Parts: sequence; structure tokens; C-alpha cells
Amino acid sequence: MSFTLVVKYQILAVIFATIALTPVDSFHFKFPSFQDENDPDIILSNNSRIFLDAIQVTPDARGVVLTNFSGRVFYKSSVQLWRNKKGKLEPATFNTTFVLNISPQTPTGGEGLAFVLSGDDTLPENSEGEWLGIVNATTNGTSEARVVAVEFDTRPSYPEDGVDNHVGVDVNSVYSIIQEPLIRYGVNLSTGMDVTVRIQYNQNLSVFVSMNGSTGEYMKTPVISVPINLSEYLPEKVFVGFSASTSIHTQLNCVKSWEFNSTDIVDEENQLLWVWITISAAVVILISGVGFFFYWRRKRSMEKPEDAYPRIEDQIKGSSMAPRKFRLKELKNATGNFNRKFKLGKGGFGTVYKGLLENKEVAVKRVSKNSRQGKQEFLAEVTTISSLHHKNLVKLIGWCYESRELLLVYEFMPNGSLDKYIFCDEKLGTVEQLPLNWETRCSVIHGVAQALDYLHNGCEKRVLHRDIKASNIMLDSEFNARLGDFGLARTIQKRDETHHSTNIAGTPGYMPPETFLTGRATVETDVFAFGVLVLEVVCGRKPGNQNEENNYNSSIVYWVWKLHSRGRILSAADPRMNGDLEQKELECLLILGLACCHPNLHKRPSMKTVLQVIVGEAAPPVVPTERPAFVWPAMPPSFKEDIENSLIGSQLTPFTEITGR
Ligand SMILES: *[C@@H]1O[C@H](CO)[C@@H](O)[C@H](O)[C@H]1NC(C)=O
Ligand SMILES: *[C@@H]1O[C@H](CO)[C@@H](O)[C@H](O)[C@H]1NC(C)=O
Ligand SMILES: *[C@@H]1O[C@H](CO)[C@@H](O)[C@H](O)[C@H]1NC(C)=O
Ligand SMILES: *[C@@H]1O[C@H](CO)[C@@H](O)[C@H](O)[C@H]1NC(C)=O
Ligand SMILES: *[C@@H]1O[C@H](CO)[C@@H](O)[C@H](O)[C@H]1NC(C)=O
Ligand SMILES: *[C@@H]1O[C@H](CO)[C@@H](O)[C@H](O)[C@H]1NC(C)=O
Repeated sequence: MSFTLVVKYQILAVIFATIALTPVDSFHFKFPSFQDENDPDIILSNNSRIFLDAIQVTPDARGVVLTNFSGRVFYKSSVQLWRNKKGKLEPATFNTTFVLNISPQTPTGGEGLAFVLSGDDTLPENSEGEWLGIVNATTNGTSEARVVAVEFDTRPSYPEDGVDNHVGVDVNSVYSIIQEPLIRYGVNLSTGMDVTVRIQYNQNLSVFVSMNGSTGEYMKTPVISVPINLSEYLPEKVFVGFSASTSIHTQLNCVKSWEFNSTDIVDEENQLLWVWITISAAVVILISGVGFFFYWRRKRSMEKPEDAYPRIEDQIKGSSMAPRKFRLKELKNATGNFNRKFKLGKGGFGTVYKGLLENKEVAVKRVSKNSRQGKQEFLAEVTTISSLHHKNLVKLIGWCYESRELLLVYEFMPNGSLDKYIFCDEKLGTVEQLPLNWETRCSVIHGVAQALDYLHNGCEKRVLHRDIKASNIMLDSEFNARLGDFGLARTIQKRDETHHSTNIAGTPGYMPPETFLTGRATVETDVFAFGVLVLEVVCGRKPGNQNEENNYNSSIVYWVWKLHSRGRILSAADPRMNGDLEQKELECLLILGLACCHPNLHKRPSMKTVLQVIVGEAAPPVVPTERPAFVWPAMPPSFKEDIENSLIGSQLTPFTEITGR
């Protein structure tokens, strides 16, 4: 280290020391509300918690027994209440303002709530009931209690306690040294409304109470003003906070906001000590800071910046019609730093949040960092969607890759996903959404078919969606279907027909039987999933369990096919439509759905045919009345017809047909 550098250090150290010597003469904290359930600035006793933007000093009503609890809540650090200056005691002064909210749960109300100054930050044992969390039967009335409290009593706890609804000052005891009924100040503690309290201490302890906000006229005259020498009862440093209790009489004891100011007095000897501590700390911080700076510079020059997915950007930029690139900061702002409140849903590899970008609502998908597929999915999604443009696809607006965060921005779909509308959740007992009418159902099916036909046949590269299901169909403001979630999509070269398959993925219930053998996604698996979707939308039923090969007994396909074989296919319609539908269209869609779910993949229609059937340009395919058994390997179409013909005519083995060709 050079000489000039040392000099610079010394100058800096002196500056720091001077800052440290400047007296800091106030202690202040403020909680406009209590948002963080694990706020590190608040000490909560066992029965207290922060919930619904308030401190609940005793437990609240959600399913727990409220009787016989006491609780205490303190600010994390203690306040200097007085100091010993050359044998003479010098008191501090303080002000505090807080908003209480007490809701009685039994007709007589619970016990009460108190502002406390205490020598320690623990809750006395057995301090519930009449003891208000201030003392217990042993410590009541003894100097051991080391507590001064301003109680807000909602019922007389003992015969001498006077009227309910009073404020009192308690010193090492629950028997107040002074108390005052509140009703003549226009305050009733037990109404469940907010009560604002201000407590001031400058040798006199003054309490102001108001029910109409801090500007009320009663805030000008104290309810109680009593001279009290706190240093006689309390140690130099005290914890400030609240206590409360319930007995067989219960109430909710909440504190909704809290501000505290005091003159901060520090011992002179301590001050000198602090100067030394500060100087040493400043020097250590400086040296380590400079050391770290050099270390960081050297490290930076030696290493390339770490980047998990270096080529991601090139790949995206290379694709045509590249979506907009966003900064992480913009998207954090848009979603309130990925606030849980804005969560729209959770998918296989990420969470979707609602966001506001330039006054436009958007959906932001945050790809989970621990998802192993995260990067691949992200790439697939960005490169795939950015090259796709269709009115029935959810539009990708932009993307972001920063600090290992992968994010996708989509247009916002105000009506959410289709599954919310078509399934009636019997467990909940209520149907949240009105069931869709017949026209909307038809238009949703038509929209999805158009989107899928576009993916399979209409775009530059063939795209398999691979995860068609009701929760992946979004509804825009006019209830048009929009196919979303291309996380599992893969682009496939159209010409490379023989390899138009990729690895297995999808959702049980939407997968055809052959996937369990081949483990492959194909155009036909998409068609199968589409068929299941058609049946769901028409019947208003969940797809059911199809997660085992050939075990379709509980599935919607099996169910509809059974009705078909009994000639009662029309009864499959969702009863919530009350028969308000076109029978011809209904039959056509159900048959089409079954055709798409044919166990033999070669018998399933293409999306082009499906679309023709839906618009009425082609008749629905013929579907056998008995659901054909699943055979593997599936017969390719040319062989199959011959075999079927032969089986109808005679019981010959297929051998002759093959040789006969
Ligand atoms: C609460 O305490 C009272 C008085 O000690 C007692 O009579 C009552 O049984 C207790 N209730 C419960 C639920 O513990
Ligand atoms: C009262 O509280 C003190 C301190 O928490 C404890 O030592 C004592 O045992 C308690 N007394 C009763 C009767 O629970
Ligand atoms: C305070 O309000 C509660 C609840 O509204 C009521 O039951 C009680 O009688 C009121 N007390 C006084 C003193 O007015
Ligand atoms: C405390 O209150 C008394 C009487 O209410 C008053 O005379 C005195 O001036 C007050 N002291 C201070 C320091 O405000
Ligand atoms: C407060 O009490 C302490 C200790 O008993 C005493 O030394 C001090 O003089 C008192 N202060 C006042 C203002 O009476
Ligand atoms: C408390 O409030 C009063 C009146 O607003 C003010 O005069 C006094 O300085 C305050 N004391 C502290 C410690 O903030």
C-alpha cells in the first residue's frame, strides 16, 4: 500500500469518526400498517402474530379457540428511558401513536389490551384472563414485574375494576393507579371500529383517545395525565409494545398501525466507547472494501461473466418477427415484484402473474429456476411462438432473460382459462362461472380446431402442441378460444415426415393409448387430445382417468362411446345447457370427438378434416358403435381395410390377404 493511500485512509477515518461523534438525538420507528407476517422488527410471543395487515396480540377467529390466551408484542430493540449522568438521573421523553381495533367475540367482550413498557421482552407465564398479559398472580403488585402499562379495558376484570370501556395506568400491577371511563370522550372500545391512541411522556404520562381519527377534538385534551417517575419502576432500557388477554370472555385484539418517537439519550462514557468502536469499524470496512474491490477487479479480468444460457439471445434474435425484449426491472415493476396477489396460475414449469406494462394488462410467465427443463422450454416457447401468428393463439408480446430469470410476456386474457367454465366442481357445491351456452361452446371448439390446424398444416414448420387441454385454452374478452402454453411445443420440419415425433409429454386423460407404448408425441396424439377436449366441452365433464393402457373405464371417451353403442349419444350433452342446443350439431360434434379418440391412430381424422366437419363442408366420419379394441402395432390404413373386409366375410387369418395383394 502506498503512503498516499494510507493518508487517504486516515482522512476518511477521521471523517467517519466525526460523523459518529455528532449526537444522534432521537429514536424513531413507524409502521403505517403491518404487511410482513415475519417482520424482523417485531418480537411476537407464541400466541401473537401478524395477519391481515395487523398485529393480532391474541389469536384471531380462524378456527382456533380464543379463550384463555395472553400475548405480548414488542419492537425489536429496547428504548433508553433514562440515564445516570454523574449521579443524577436524566429522563427521556417519548410520544407514541397507534390504532387499536377490538372486536368482541362474546357478548361481554374479552379482557383488554394494553400499551406496555417492560424490562424484558417475554410474556409472563399464566398471564391470561384478568392479568391482561401484564403480570401474573405471582408478580402482580411486586417490583419484580418491571412493567408500566396503559390498559384499554373492555370489561371489569375484578370487582374493584370499575366500569368497562375505560383507560387506566398500571404500575407493576393490573390494579390501576388511575383510571378514566372513555364513554364521556365519545369512545367505545368494543365496537370493532378503529380507535386512535396517543401517549406522551415528559414526566407526566398523558393519554389521548379518539374514535374519529387523530384529528378528532378529543385528541387535544388528555383522557388521563398523571405525573409518574418511570425510572423508579423501570430499568434504563425498556422494550415497548402491546399486551392483551382473553378469558372465557373473548375478543380480537388488533393493532393496525404504530409510530414511536423518543429523545435518545446515551451515556457519555458509552458515547466515548462508541466513538472507538465506530472508528475501528470504519477502518475495517474501508480496508476490506478496498481489498474486495481489487479482488473483484482481478477476478473479473480473469473470468468471463457467468452466463447459464449464452446463446439464448442469439437464437431468439435469429427468429423472424422477434418479440420485444424487456428488462427484468420493467417486469418486476409490472408485477409488483412478482407479488403473490397477482398470481394467475401455476403451470408445469413456471408461475404466471398478472402485470401492468405501459397501462396495458399482460400475463407474465416466470420460468421456475429450479425446473430442469426451464431453459429448453423457454427456448422452445420463444422461438416457436414468435414465428406463429394466428387469431386463435395467445400472442407473445415479449421476453426477458436477466440474472438467470427467464420471463415471457403474453397478452392478458381477461376471461381466464376454459376449464373454469366447463367443469362443474361438485365438491365446492357452487358453480363459480355461468355455464357456457351452446353457441359459445361451438365457437370455442371451432377456434381450437383452427389453431391446431394452423399448427399442424398452416405454418412454415409443423408444430405439435403436445399439451392440448382445457386449462391451456384461454378465453379472450369476447370468449374466443386462444390456444396457449407452447412450453411443450417442438418445431418439426415438415418434410421430415418419418421423424415427426418427439418425446412423451402431456397430461394424463388427454393421452391416447399408444403413447404408453411408444412414448411419442405425434400429430395423432394432438388430434386425440383435441377429441377429448371436444367431448369435455360438449358434456361438461372432466376427461377422467386414462393413465393406464387400455383402462378407459372411467374416462369420458369410454362413457360417450357406451352411450353411442346404446343409441343414446345425445344424452351425453351437458345437462346445464337445459337442452338449449342444436341436436344435429351436438351429434356431429360428439361423433367427431369419438372419431378423434379412435384407439387406432390411423383412423383418427386429420385436423384439416376435423375443420371441414365443423364448418359443415364434410360429413362426420363413421364411428363404429362398439369401441374398437386397442391393437398394437396399429394397422396402417391400406392393410386395415382388407383385413376388416375379410373378417366380415369369413374367419380367415390375415395371412391370405397379405399374400393376395
Ligand atoms: C379458562 O380459564 C377459566 C378460569 O381459570 C376456566 O374456568 C376455564 O375452564 C378455562 N377455559 C379453557 C377453555 O381453558
Ligand atoms: C409468573 O411469571 C413468572 C415469570 O414469567 C414465573 O416465574 C412465575 O412462575 C409465574 N407465576 C405463575 C403463578 O405462573
Ligand atoms: C359499546 O359497543 C358495544 C358494541 O356495539 C355495545 O354492546 C356496548 O353496549 C357499547 N358500550 C357502551 C358503554 O356504550
Ligand atoms: C404535569 O401535569 C401537571 C398537572 O396536570 C402540570 O402542572 C405540570 O406542569 C405537568 N408537567 C409537565 C412537565 O408537563
Ligand atoms: C425519579 O426517581 C429517581 C429514582 O428514585 C430519582 O433519583 C429522581 O430524582 C426522580 N426524578 C424526579 C424528577 O423526581
Ligand atoms: C411529543 O409531542 C409533543 C407535541 O406534539 C412535542 O412537543 C414533543 O417534542 C414530542 N416529543 C418527542 C420526544 O417527540
